[in-house]
Amino acid sequence: MPAVSLCCRICATEHPLDATGTCSRCFGPLDPTYDWDALRARVSRASIEAGPQSIWRYADLLPVAAPEVARLAPGMTPLVPAPRLAEELGIGELWLKLDTANPTHSFKDRVVAVAARKAQELGLDTLSCSSTGNLAGAVAARAAAEGMEAAVFVPSDLEPEKLAAAAVYGPRIYAVAGTYDHCSRLSVELSFELPWGFVNVNLRSYYAEGSKTLAYEIAEQLGWETPDAVAIPIASGALFHKVGQGFAELSALGLVDGTPALFGGQAAGCEPVATAFRENARVVPVRPSSIARSLAIGNPADGDFAVTTARATGGAIHTVAEDEIGSNMAHLAATTGVFGETATGVTLGALKAAVAAGQIGPRARVVLLVTGDGLKTPGPVSDTYDPIMIEADADAFLDEVLIA
Ligand SMILES: Cc1ncc(COP(=O)(O)O)c(C=O)c1O
Ligand SMILES: [Zn+2]
Repeated sequence: MPAVSLCCRICATEHPLDATGTCSRCFGPLDPTYDWDALRARVSRASIEAGPQSIWRYADLLPVAAPEVARLAPGMTPLVPAPRLAEELGIGELWLKLDTANPTHSFKDRVVAVAARKAQELGLDTLSCSSTGNLAGAVAARAAAEGMEAAVFVPSDLEPEKLAAAAVYGPRIYAVAGTYDHCSRLSVELSFELPWGFVNVNLRSYYAEGSKTLAYEIAEQLGWETPDAVAIPIASGALFHKVGQGFAELSALGLVDGTPALFGGQAAGCEPVATAFRENARVVPVRPSSIARSLAIGNPADGDFAVTTARATGGAIHTVAEDEIGSNMAHLAATTGVFGETATGVTLGALKAAVAAGQIGPRARVVLLVTGDGLKTPGPVSDTYDPIMIEADADAFLDEVLIA
């Protein structure tokens, strides 16, 4: 395992590779550091291609050892072309990264797999998290697969589909009176009291690294080329920031040339990171009120880093109107056959805004991350169908069809 320490992103103080969420000197976030000389000598396109069909083919670039027996391994999800939508949007190529193909139908299986591995290394037998929905399902399923306990904290008004999609795996579910940010604060406090692996608190440094695998896979699946732009939804900002880091690492290792511009999306009802980008300011927390529940984090831990990543890559962060989210979900489904969740409606909105602003040109090759499944958030599109009522009678049906 090439990770050598945890290092503070703010003050660069080094910490051991244990379950510490924040810097003991300045409370900044901690990132694993690696022995890059050793990695340059060992990691090649061929060494990666010889690995398993999952995120564990990139284990050298992750802060944990690959499991001996990988149960329900996430990753290597399909990257599929979407030519009809590309043409409608007026861009050269559009590819959809279908992270709905992960075991619990969201990209959260990637981050949880890495955090759970660390929990096992540290001998922690309960996995926990605060969640806007998808993470709860990913934690609960991972615990079930590994024979661990799971305890998850979610806002009490979560979508029923998301609750059921987590509850089925048998975790203890705590429905917190309040928003995600209340769940988050509670789990931070509890992490000091309980010997649990809180994947997005005391294991956050390991957890977040799992999102780098999206960048690695996109480059590999494009034949070790990077796209011109990637569209990504933003809640805490960790996914956005770590995808940027993943592409930068591939470039530093000489595995690809160049890095893409990253375009982030937030919903109008919860846009602290988009506001900070627009106003060239630091993130100011908000109280969320959005139908994109999975992105409803009012106090985003990695928000400022997401803003920095957007600027550093030549991208941007856009706000998407609440009433566009459902129509974007339907637009994506009708032009590509892919039913993404509300977060994907936001991501497509951000892509449209970037094209309209001339930030993505007509020949660009673009990847859109489909990070979650529409079947868990059908609400915004549930009034878009109008079935034709008929009798079970062929003659009547044919008359009806011939007249219409
Ligand atoms: C489907 C989906 N996409 C994107 C995100 C955003 O991830 P992050 O909090 O790392 O910004 C989430 C977070 O819950 C999510 O559930
Ligand atoms: Zn620090």
